[in-house]
Amino acid sequence: MGGPEQQVFHPNANIVRKAHCSSMEQYRQMHARSLERPDEFWGEIAEQFHWEAPVKSNFFSYNFDINKGPISIKWMEEASTNICFNLLDVNIQKGLGDKVAFYWEGNDPEDYTRVTYKKLLEHVCKFANVLKSHGVEKGDRVAIYMPMVLELVVTMLACSRIGAVHSIVFGGFSADSLAERMHDCRAKILVTADGVWRGDKLLHLKEICDTALDKCSKIGHNVEKCIVVSHLTRLSNAHTQKTPGMKPPVHKTPFTPGRDLWWDDEMKGASNFCYPTWVDAEDPLFMLYTSGSTGKPKGVLHTTAGYLLYAATTFKYVFDYHPGDTYWCTADIGWITGHTYVVYGPLANGATSVMFEGTPFYPHNGRYWEVIEKYKINLFYTAPTAIRALMKFGDEPVKKFNMSSLRVLGSVGEPINPEAWLWYYRLVGQNKCSIVDTFWQTETGGHVLTPLPGCTPMKPGSATFPFFGVQPELLDENGKIIRGPGEGYLVFSKPWPGMMRTLFGNHDRFETTYFKKFPGYYCTGDGARRDEEGYLWVTGRMDDMLNVSGHLLSTAEVESALVEHPDVAEAAVVSHPHAVKGECLYCFITPNEGVHFSTTLVAELRKKVREKIGPFASPEVVQHAPGLPKTRSGKIMRRVLRKVALNDRDVGDTSTLADEGIVEALFSNRPPEASKLLKAC
Ligand code: WT7
Repeated sequence: MGGPEQQVFHPNANIVRKAHCSSMEQYRQMHARSLERPDEFWGEIAEQFHWEAPVKSNFFSYNFDINKGPISIKWMEEASTNICFNLLDVNIQKGLGDKVAFYWEGNDPEDYTRVTYKKLLEHVCKFANVLKSHGVEKGDRVAIYMPMVLELVVTMLACSRIGAVHSIVFGGFSADSLAERMHDCRAKILVTADGVWRGDKLLHLKEICDTALDKCSKIGHNVEKCIVVSHLTRLSNAHTQKTPGMKPPVHKTPFTPGRDLWWDDEMKGASNFCYPTWVDAEDPLFMLYTSGSTGKPKGVLHTTAGYLLYAATTFKYVFDYHPGDTYWCTADIGWITGHTYVVYGPLANGATSVMFEGTPFYPHNGRYWEVIEKYKINLFYTAPTAIRALMKFGDEPVKKFNMSSLRVLGSVGEPINPEAWLWYYRLVGQNKCSIVDTFWQTETGGHVLTPLPGCTPMKPGSATFPFFGVQPELLDENGKIIRGPGEGYLVFSKPWPGMMRTLFGNHDRFETTYFKKFPGYYCTGDGARRDEEGYLWVTGRMDDMLNVSGHLLSTAEVESALVEHPDVAEAAVVSHPHAVKGECLYCFITPNEGVHFSTTLVAELRKKVREKIGPFASPEVVQHAPGLPKTRSGKIMRRVLRKVALNDRDVGDTSTLADEGIVEALFSNRPPEASKLLKAC
C-alpha cells in the first residue's frame, strides 16, 4: 500500500489554464453528451471539415450483437469527402500553406529537411498521378514497405487522394511476412526504398522486397510494379565516417526492368495537380495487419469519415494541441500509432511535427533529448519500452539538454510501470508536464482510454478514463457486468467513429474474434481493473497474445515458425517478463526422435523466427523440452509452462496431465540464459 500507483498527480496550473478540456466536470459533461447524442457531438466536429456530399443527421447506425445479425458499424453514410483534401488543401485554404508540416530528422543528425503543407500537397498530387498512370484506381490496394522517410507520408496521402487503400508493412518485418501480407490484400503495387540505416546498421529493403515479390509470383499473384525511393544515395553518409571500420555502402540495389521503377524518374514528368476522388464516408481508407491468435495476421480495415473525425479529435484533446505547438511522436508509421499520430491526426489539425528516422541510441544515448531541444518540442509521444531502455543510462543524458519546452508527455503500446512513469514525469517532464498513458489498439484506430492534459488527475500506470464516444465495461468470465471496483475483461458496448469496420476479406473472422465471446460487446482481448475512484488499469492480454516492446505477437505465429524447422517435433511459446521489452518470448522445443538439442539448433531456430516474422520477434530463451505438459485430451497446459519459465514450483493442480513426470523434467532442463533473464527482471 502507498506505492507510487496510489499517488495522485494533479495537472500543473499552467496546463489547466489553456487546456481544451480543463476540468473533470467539463470532461464528464462532454463524455456524457458524446454517448447520449453522438450525432450532435460528432456532427459539430464534422463541421470543421470539407464534405462534398453533406453529413446528414442520424448518421450513426450499428449492430454489436452477433445474435441479432451481422456486426456492422456505420458513421455518416451518404456523406462524401476526401481525407487528403481535408489534411492538405483545406489547411492551405486556411492560410497554413507555408507552415511546416514535418521536420524530417534522419538517422544521422547531419541529415535533416522540412516540408511545408503546400510542398507536401505538390508531392502528393504528383505521386497520385504516378499511381494513376500505373492503373491504380479507387479501392485498389497499394502495399508500402518503407523506412521513416517523407515519401512514405506522400505515398499514404497520394493513395487517399485517389481513393486507393494503403496497406503498410513495418520495415522490420521479414520477406515472408511482407509476402503474406501483400498476397492477402492482393496488392497491385509495392512502394519501397533501396535501404535505410538504423543506428549503425544498414538494411537493404529492396532485397527483402525482391524475395517477397518472388514469393508472391510463385503463388500466382503478380504485384505489377515496385516503385523504389533512392534514399541511401542522398544521405550524408556521415555515419560511415564516424564509425571506425565501417565501409561506405558500395552496394548496388537490385532492379528488375519492367517491374521496378525509380521514384525520382516517375515524379519528374508528373503533374502537380490532382483532383481529389470523393469517396463515401464508409469507403476504406487503409488496412493494417495485426497479429491474430490463430497465427494468421488480421487485415484490420479502417474507413474514411469516422477515422478522420476520431484521429483529429483525439489528437486535439489528448495532446491538448494548440496552433504553434511542435509535436513529436517517435513511433514508426508501420504501426497504427504512426498512422494515426504521426500522419492523420496531426495533419488534420494543421500541426507541425517531427518525423524521426533514427533510434534513441544513435549516435548517442541522448538522441531523443537532443531532438526535443533542437525542435523545442512541446508534445512528445513515445513507448514505455523506450523509456525503460533510456532510464538505464541514468539521468545524465537527459540533463545535458533543455527539456523546458515540453508540456505533454504521452505513452503508448503497453502498460507503463510506475517506476518508468515517475522517471518520465520527474526527469523528462520536470514535474510540470501532463502524462497521457494512452490505451488503444490497431483495431480502435485511436485512443480509447486516456487522461486529458490539464484535466485528469493522473495515477502512475493507469490509462484512467474513456475518451469521448467510448463506453467501457468490465465483464466477468460469464459476461456479467462488474460494477464498481473489480477486475475483468475490458470490452466496449458501443462503437466510436474511429474503430475498425471489418477484417479485410474476412468478416466472419472479425465477428468471431471480437464479438463472439460476449455478444453485444467489442472485446479488446485485454484485462482491466477498476479502482475505488473509477480509474481503469489495463492489466494485459487475456488471450494467447504477447506484447514485445509494444508490438503484439501471437504465440501461435511464433510456434508455427519454429515447427517449420525439420528437426522440431513440437514447440510451445509463452510470454516472460522482460526489464526493457516488457514481455519476451520463452520457447519450449521438443526435437524429433534422434535429434540432438544443440546450440546450433537453437541458433537456427532463432534465425527461423527472424526469417518468418522479423528480427523484433527473436526468442529470448529456447529451452529443450523432452515432452510438453498436455492434458489427456492433448491440450498444452501453458499455465505450467509459464511457471517453468519463471522457475516457480508452485504449478498448481497437475492431476489432469497425461504425464505428470514431464513437469519435473522441464524444471531441470531450464537453460542458464533463463536464470539470467529472470535475474534481470
Ligand atoms: C495492445 C494493442 C495502440 C498502439 C500500439 C499497439 C496493449 C496498448 C496500452 C496502454 C496497457 C496497452 C494492449 C492492446 N496496449 N496501449 N497504454 N496500457 N496496454 O497497438 O499492436 O494493436 O496492440 O497493446 O494489450 O490490446 P497494437
